[in-house]
Amino acid sequence: MKILFLNGPNLNLLGTREPQVYGKTTLGDIEALVRKQATARGASVDFRQTNLEGELVGWIQTAKGQFDVIVLNAAAYTHTSVALRDAIAATGIPTIEIHLSNIHAREEFRHKSLIAGVCRGQIAGFGANSYLLGLEAAINIIEPAKK
Ligand code: DQA
Repeated sequence: MKILFLNGPNLNLLGTREPQVYGKTTLGDIEALVRKQATARGASVDFRQTNLEGELVGWIQTAKGQFDVIVLNAAAYTHTSVALRDAIAATGIPTIEIHLSNIHAREEFRHKSLIAGVCRGQIAGFGANSYLLGLEAAINIIEPAKK
């Protein structure tokens, strides 16, 4: 089971960035939690962050044949990026959209996700736990497919 976690812009600032919205857990802390649970579940994980839209597009494209599932927190690009949506649709890799915050309970411009329609599902609002729920959702997609 190979799972690719991708993180978009400003998520490198977690811990100090708007802690009232995103909590005090850093992205490094979240990665450690994900790796621990992945090991316990027999999954291998690659965990990346970038502030660049094109880099995310490139990583999604090259994930084909390398990873079973992508767990994606596209951050602000969730609400703006047709390119990310097209990359997910083009590669056909099952992708799970995740967010720390409940985007539907926030400003109106965050209610719309341009990637939701090409993702298997969306997990939002559980803080760092959204990543662990994303991992479980990914494993649930892979396990039946391999039986
Ligand atoms: C986010 C929500 C987005 O609206 C925002 O732009 C982010 C983080 C989240 O994880 O809650 O950067 O994806």
